[in-house]
Amino acid sequence: IKRIAVLTSGGDAPGMNAAIRAVVRTGFYYNLEMFGIYRGYEGMIQNEIKKLESKHISHVLERGGTFLKSARSTEFRTPEGRKKAFENLQKHGIDALVVIGGDGSLTGAHLFYKEYGIPAIGIPGTIDNDLAGTDLTVGFDTACNTAIEAIDKIRDTATSHDRLFFVEVMGRDAGFIAINAGIGSAAAATLIPEKKMPIERLVERLKARTKAMKQSNIVIVAEGGKSGGAAEIAEKIKKQLPYYDIKVTILGHLQRGGAPSAMDRVLASKLGVAAVEGLLQGKYDVMAGVINNKVVYTPIAKAIVGSKEVDEDDFRVVRILST
Ligand code: F6P
Repeated sequence: IKRIAVLTSGGDAPGMNAAIRAVVRTGFYYNLEMFGIYRGYEGMIQNEIKKLESKHISHVLERGGTFLKSARSTEFRTPEGRKKAFENLQKHGIDALVVIGGDGSLTGAHLFYKEYGIPAIGIPGTIDNDLAGTDLTVGFDTACNTAIEAIDKIRDTATSHDRLFFVEVMGRDAGFIAINAGIGSAAAATLIPEKKMPIERLVERLKARTKAMKQSNIVIVAEGGKSGGAAEIAEKIKKQLPYYDIKVTILGHLQRGGAPSAMDRVLASKLGVAAVEGLLQGKYDVMAGVINNKVVYTPIAKAIVGSKEVDEDDFRVVRILST
C-alpha cells in the first residue's frame, strides 16, 4: 500500500477532524502518500480527490465538523455509482481507503471492498454510538456534553417557572445519547427506543414527583422512540395532566457541532493511527474500535449488523435515579 485516501461520510461528528489528522499524520510517518476525498462517497463519484499535505491538517484537531465535508450519497448505493467511484480511485492510484462514519458509511466501505477488492478500513464516527465493536464512537462524548450543557440551561428556566420540559435528543434509532443525557442531567424520566415506557407509567411518575415537591421536571425523549418524539409525548401528557405548564425543546443539530471533547480527541487520534497501521498489516474490511481501552478490529459486517445493545446496568441507573 502506497497511497491511502480518507473520507468522512454521513452525519458529521465532533472529532472527525482529529481522526482525519491522525490518519494523515500516520500515513506520513510510514512514508505513504495521503489523499482526501471531499464530500464522502459523493465526492468519490465526482472525483473530488486531492493530495493532502501537512498544511491541510494543521489546526484541525480541535475543530468541530469535518474539513473534508460530508454527504449522504444516494448514487453510491447504485452499482453504477460505485463503478464511477472506483474508476476515480484508479485515476489517482489509490490503493486503500479509510472511511470515517456511521453504519451507512461503513456499509458502503464493506460493499465496495466486496465488489472491487479495494482494501478499506472503518473508523466509527457518529454521535449516535450505535456501532458494535467499540465502546464509544467518535463524537458521542462531545454530543452528550453538549446535550447536558443545554439541558442544564433548560433546567434553570424550568425551575423558575415550575414547568415540565420534554427535551428531544438525537440518536436515530438508538438511546445512548438519551441515557447519558438523562443520567447526567437528573432527568425525571428518559424515554429510549430500546425500552417501552407506557404513557400511564410516565404520568404516575410525574404525579409522584409533584407530590414530592420537585421544582422542575425534565423528561428526555430519544428521537427514535416508538411512542413518538417529544412533541407527541408532550401532547399525550397534556391531556392527562392539564395543570402542568408544558414546553418542548428539540436539541437537534446543535448536538453535532462544537469542538470535540478531550475524550473524542484522544479516541479519534488512537483510531486514526490504528486504521492506517491496520491497513499496513493487511486488516481489510474491518472497523477499528476501542474496547476496554484497547484497540480492536471488528469485521465491518459485524459492527453494523450487531448494532450495540443498550447497557442494562445503565438503564437500571436511569430508573433508580429518576424515581
Ligand atoms: O447519525 C447522526 C444523526 O445526527 C442522527 O442522530 C440523526 O437522526 C441524523 O443524523 C440526522 O441526519 P441529518 O443531519 O441528515 O438530518
